[in-house]
Amino acid sequence: MRLGARTNLALLALLAGAFLTGWLAFAFATAPARWSLVVHALSGFAILALVPWKSIIARRGLGRPRSGRWVSALFGVLVLVSLLAGLLHSTGLLLWWGPITAMEVHVGAAIAAVPLAIWHVLRRPVRLRPTDLSRRTFLRGGAVLAGAAAAYAGSEVAVRAAGLVGGTRRFTGSYEVGSFQPDLLPATSWMFDAVPQIDTGEWTLHAGGRTWSYEELLAFDDRLTATLDCTGGFYSTQEWTGVRLSRLLDSGGSSIRVVSSTGYDRRFPASEADSLLLATQVGGRQLDPGHGYPVRLVAANRRGFWWVKWVNAIEVDDLPHWWQSPFPLQ
Ligand code: HEM
Ligand code: HEM
Repeated sequence: MRLGARTNLALLALLAGAFLTGWLAFAFATAPARWSLVVHALSGFAILALVPWKSIIARRGLGRPRSGRWVSALFGVLVLVSLLAGLLHSTGLLLWWGPITAMEVHVGAAIAAVPLAIWHVLRRPVRLRPTDLSRRTFLRGGAVLAGAAAAYAGSEVAVRAAGLVGGTRRFTGSYEVGSFQPDLLPATSWMFDAVPQIDTGEWTLHAGGRTWSYEELLAFDDRLTATLDCTGGFYSTQEWTGVRLSRLLDSGGSSIRVVSSTGYDRRFPASEADSLLLATQVGGRQLDPGHGYPVRLVAANRRGFWWVKWVNAIEVDDLPHWWQSPFPLQ
């Protein structure tokens, strides 16, 4: 039975690790994303390695007429769906289910599993005993991790040997879609934003203590080639045209808050004013509504949720740039 308890405790650590490193990877569009995803994939494969042991515990538990066992079963289904969708994404075997990406299913199932995981652990408590920290436990744990590392490395080699598209993904795990072909750029939003229909005859942008009309913004010709890397699992490199924020804002202040007409907002360090572009065009053409018409932010080296669409205000103030939820809540 102690083997069961140790398996459950190992699962707890691995689930928490996978969840945290998944979000950590989303926080970066630069090299740390890869390191985080290596730990992430290792945790995922280690959970898979424990499935034979956990199925013994689960089968026994499900056989008992105990309250809440179907909640545990649903929790199991969600974890398996998340694992399967993660593997389908990373191998490239199935990237889309209709309009939904495998990555969205992966993260969605993981988020849905969180309350059930908390319930499961609180209702089926496992106590750590001093003997659980024996040399033997560590050796077993090490063996599970080594097996997971071998399986992960093996899967990466197999994906390439079999010529699966998984071999082409970027260090963030994302797949290339329609670079330099704006027509093929997918339009997605973080969570709940619906595409607003904006009439530029009446629309204005508030920035730097004044209002700007759409025509005034079209007169700028700053260009930036930047990669939009969506947390839905794709990326696309495009040439964006518009105006650098440093031209619209007075210098000073600690951070810049970029606000959408939907209320969605993100805050950036004031020192980035020169590298952030407020785009009116992509690939030499006006943005379409799904991509942020009339203007959207282009934030190179940041994941897609930083690229605020339908911007209508840019404010500078003295709040620190990290004074915001690490991921948008709308
Ligand atoms: C991959 C994650 C996990 C899945 C899919 C899972 C699923 C299940 C299922 C289906 C059962 C049998 C039904 C029941 O007794 O409610 C069960 C039992 C149990 N689980 Fe989990 N579980 C997971 C992780 C954990 C964790 C992290 C802990 C605690 C740290 C834990 C502790 C237990 C305990 C103590 C039992 C009861 C065993 C018994 O008395 O027969 N489980 N689990
Ligand atoms: C229950 C929690 C989770 C588990 C067990 C899990 C497990 C996995 C597994 C097994 C893979 C495939 C790894 C590979 O073959 O390279 C994967 C990929 C991925 N997961 Fe998760 N994951 C979980 C939650 C999350 C969350 C919450 C996020 C983001 C917020 C996330 C982001 C990713 C990303 C970006 C990839 C793609 C990595 C790549 O293709 O290189 N995961 N995950």
